[in-house]
Amino acid sequence: MERPAWAPRSIDISVPSVSRIYDYYLGGSHNFEVDRDAARKAMEFLPGLPKIMQANRAFMRRAVRFAADRGITQYLDVGSGIPTFGNVHELAQSAVPGAHVLYVDNDPVAVAHSQAVLAGNDIADVVAADLRKPQEILSSPQRERLIDLNRPVALLLVAILHFVEDADDPYGAVAELSEALAPGSLLILTHASYEGIPVPAERAEGAVDVYKDIRNPLIMRSRDEIARFFEGYDMVEPGLVPMPHWRPESAPEDEDPFAFSGFAGVGRTA
Ligand SMILES: C[S@@+](CC[C@H](N)C(=O)[O-])C[C@H]1O[C@@H](n2cnc3c(N)ncnc32)[C@H](O)[C@@H]1O
Repeated sequence: MERPAWAPRSIDISVPSVSRIYDYYLGGSHNFEVDRDAARKAMEFLPGLPKIMQANRAFMRRAVRFAADRGITQYLDVGSGIPTFGNVHELAQSAVPGAHVLYVDNDPVAVAHSQAVLAGNDIADVVAADLRKPQEILSSPQRERLIDLNRPVALLLVAILHFVEDADDPYGAVAELSEALAPGSLLILTHASYEGIPVPAERAEGAVDVYKDIRNPLIMRSRDEIARFFEGYDMVEPGLVPMPHWRPESAPEDEDPFAFSGFAGVGRTA
């Protein structure tokens, strides 16, 4: 298989990756046959997976606009993924000219493509780091240059925490990042769950197994378990809800039933 220019030498292009599978669901072009095969296999169990991803992106866009409307000028997006239509820096910087945006991802394709997209943008950057090591994010030169921790930050953990296993202490990682944030900061989060999926959990498990096979397990958590990530935050109305129910701009009745899988919420530090 030929290696395209956007694929760093360090990656094994015969192994599917979470970020490239997601890129495929969103209609992007930064994915390989192995990623498309894995995505199609998961879709045999959950045909609505692209709808779930689109609902996730739509929530993220509404939440960034919400943060911008409340005067937040700094965005720390951990697990930002391969840039696609409606990126956080485009949304934030068009709503708040001069908004600073820092992307973080541990996937080399996501990092390389973000670097390419951000070339020439002095107020947005990307760090190759891992959510499981919050200090690497907080002490990075890019964080020091772009994100002033004495002022409110919107911390985005959108569709990432379900890739962090309990053994890797996702609650500890979120707490460590949250403790570094100034009062008035926001936590913007989505998370996969068996709750709300319009097929029996046993069937959805087939899709979960695809991620297990690529050694990047998808951890389905209950609503209560997801709510615990917001410890120390006050929930912004309407709380932790299925994605289309979070401050919709049009009637959620129009949505595909799959869009109601998983949960989204925004919390604010006092
Ligand atoms: C499903 S994508 C979500 C992208 C974007 N946040 C969105 O919602 O559109 C998940 C991203 O999280 C990244 N990721 C997974 N585990 C990570 C970790 N421990 N540290 C940093 N990034 C991680 C993956 O590489 C991938 O790009």
